[in-house]
Order: sequence, then C-alpha cells, then structure tokens
Amino acid sequence: MSYKVIKSDCRIFLKDNFKELKPIDLTFLDPPFNQNKNYALHNDDLPEKDYWKMMDDVCKSIFKITSAGGAIYFMQREKNTEFVLRCLKKAKWTFQNLIIWKKKTSAVPCSKKYGKHYQVIAFATKGEKARVFNKLRISPPLPANYKFERENGIFVTDIWDDIRELTSGYLAGDEALRNENGERFHKQQAPISLLLRIILSSSNIGDTVFDPFAGTGTTLTVANQLNRQTIGIELDPRNIKCIENRLSEVRDTDNILKFHKYYQCTKNLKQIWDIQEEIEKVPVDSCSLFNF
Ligand SMILES: C[S@@+](CC[C@H](N)C(=O)[O-])C[C@H]1O[C@@H](n2cnc3c(N)ncnc32)[C@H](O)[C@@H]1O
Repeated sequence: MSYKVIKSDCRIFLKDNFKELKPIDLTFLDPPFNQNKNYALHNDDLPEKDYWKMMDDVCKSIFKITSAGGAIYFMQREKNTEFVLRCLKKAKWTFQNLIIWKKKTSAVPCSKKYGKHYQVIAFATKGEKARVFNKLRISPPLPANYKFERENGIFVTDIWDDIRELTSGYLAGDEALRNENGERFHKQQAPISLLLRIILSSSNIGDTVFDPFAGTGTTLTVANQLNRQTIGIELDPRNIKCIENRLSEVRDTDNILKFHKYYQCTKNLKQIWDIQEEIEKVPVDSCSLFNF
C-alpha cells in the first residue's frame, strides 16, 4: 500500500494543499499537549487560547477533507476533555465515544485530588453514522473469579485497559525507538497496539489513514502493514527521517502480527486484516496476548 510523509507545519499544509490529501477516511490526532515538553521546532508552552485556536483550525481543516462518515480519534490529557469535545463540536464533528485509555504503570500522584491514571481519546465522525465501524473482539486473560474460558472473547468497549503505554527508561521496552546513547528518540511515541485498535475499528483495507502530527510515524507504520493508504505530516526533519527508516524496514517490535491471535474472535477479521500466509512465519508464543 502507498504512504506519503510530508515535512510541513500541518496547519499551513492543511490550509494551502488540502486537495492533495482528499479524501481522508480516518485521522489519528495526537498533537503536543501544551505541557512545556521539549520539542525541537514547536513551542509546547503556548497561551491556552492560542493552543486551542490551533486545534480548532486543525480539526476544521481535517473535517473538510474527510469522507462522509469518516472518523477522527483525538487523544489528549484527561484534564483537557472539555476543550477537546468543544473543539470537535465547533468543527462540526459528531461525537461518538470518549475512550478512556487506562495506563498500565502507576498513576501520576496529586496532592489534593485523586491520582491520574488515564488519557482520553475522543472518537467522532463526519455525520451521525460512521462509514466504517468494525466491532472488534479481544481475548484478554480470564479474571480470577471466572471459571470458564470465553469461547468468543469479548467486545472492545470504551475503556481500554489492555494497552501498555511506552514509559520512559527501562520499562519502555524494545518498542521505544532509541538514540545511539540508549535514550528514547521521541518521548511521545504511541504504542503500535493502540494504533492497531483504532485503525482496525474505523477503517477497511484500501482506506486512507491520516496523521497530521506524525512524530515517529506509529500511525503510518501500522496503517501500512494493514494495507491502508497512509499520509503523515511532521514538522521536525529528524522525525521525518525516523518515519522513513521505520517504514522502509519493519522492525520486529513494530510487527503487528503478534497481536493477531488477540483479535481472532472478531467476526470479520479476515476482511479487515489481510495476513495471507504471513502469520505462519510468526512463532506461536509471540502470537499471544498484549504485554500485560
Ligand atoms: C505527540 S507527538 C506525536 C507522536 C506520535 N503519535 C508517535 O507515535 O510518534 C506530536 C508531534 O507533532 C509534531 N508537531 C508539532 N507541531 C506540529 C505542526 N504544527 N505540524 C506538524 N507536526 C507538528 C512534533 O514535532 C511531534 O513529533
């Protein structure tokens, strides 16, 4: 399947070159969260008004180039939920779900309120009815009080507690891209398994998946393996190089086949994930569940 990596400021590109992108079927929107992180070419400490004006513009532009019923998944810190929903509404997106992505590692402590243990992902569509929504079934480990294995797995709901975030340091594991000195290349790299779920749920083979803040190219890496067309925009040339390398040769840790078994109870899995004979090459023990 084809992919395109564009080095640009997505706000400018989306305004001036939108015809090049049309039509988009699914967007994963994972912008910098405006929490003063160290980005090479982006000021992550904007006045709140300016930050949300930027996100308003981006959401409006994406809406224009999205196919009827196409989807957007907007990821943010939980404290910004209200702003995210307002921003999507202003841009005319129809709200579908607020997904709670519960983190696996310990919560961020707070002194006078509960510790924070999740991030939000708002799922919305262009129009009331989603063009594509594949009801995925997963096979997580049986809870301790359950006697019998589930024959058909369970449906994915709006609480995602089975996807491990890539934390800093040792716990980030092999999936996190690293510099020569062993440090993480990009601290906001999203896990492959998160994009796998989003792309399988809201697109079909041959659809176009878009990521305007592409970072290390996780969206493109997964979309390409799932035979979707994919386009990413990224400001930082070092990230562009990283995406190109990542797409030119799939690393073992980026290979999505190890998750196939986890989704095997999904009714139309064959239609949305064309693995042909490749799955036979993956060792059985690596086909098991997510990294719990
Ligand atoms: C949160 S990170 C995305 C991480 C990505 N999901 C991944 O898995 O690697 C946001 C990215 O947006 C890029 N960025 C910031 N402002 C941008 C803009 N105006 N246009 C395009 N990219 C931008 C940053 O350089 C950063 O890599």
